[in-house]
Amino acid sequence: MFDSTRRSFLQQTAIGLATFGASGLVLSCEAQPTQEVNRDPSNQILIQMGAAQQTTAKSELRKITPQPYGPFYRAGAPFRGKLSLPGEPGTTFVLSGRVWAYDTKRPLPGVVLDFWHVDMNEKYSNGVSDFRNRGRLVSSETGQYEVESIRPIPYRPNPTGAPDFWRCAHFHLAAICPGYQPLVTEIHFHGDARKNDPMYRAENAIVVEERTVNGKVFQTGVFDIVLERAAK
Ligand SMILES: [Fe+2]
Repeated sequence: MFDSTRRSFLQQTAIGLATFGASGLVLSCEAQPTQEVNRDPSNQILIQMGAAQQTTAKSELRKITPQPYGPFYRAGAPFRGKLSLPGEPGTTFVLSGRVWAYDTKRPLPGVVLDFWHVDMNEKYSNGVSDFRNRGRLVSSETGQYEVESIRPIPYRPNPTGAPDFWRCAHFHLAAICPGYQPLVTEIHFHGDARKNDPMYRAENAIVVEERTVNGKVFQTGVFDIVLERAAK
């Protein structure tokens, strides 16, 4: 099975959205702005925090107080390229990609990228005294970024009240750049065991590759980010 849709998906996720024009890197004309995951049309978060339901259809999710960054976001994560602690349990994961401007089709430097994700116990650090698996960095002069952490796992946001509701594995991401619309989204994983999560977005799913360097095995994924101009 290797239809044109799948080929296009793999091209986007494996080698990014770049083409090479006469004056340097250019965003592919087929590329679209990166999609948000957390927001519904009323700009509110959809997350099931009540009792377990028979199905996980989107219409059955209950809206809660607007939380544009989700309930586990904490401001003030340190600027760094490695989010996890040395020796933290889990599969070492290197996430990289490039930030693009949708209007100019050019790489966007200076974009603040804020990442956060769960540990192997399905927990977020408190983001006050403990910033494990949280961190910010700035896209380079060519829009590039790269972080090392552990691969997030699926988790239950409310294991007591809704023990059967699983979130697919994800990195949370907020991308902030003056002059562009702030983007809050999630990075998912191609073939995730919990992709029946209604918040799973195939277009936001990265293809995972396994690599070995210096005898150490780790996984990698590429996620390019496309930002739209802010309304004037
Ligand atoms: Fe999450």
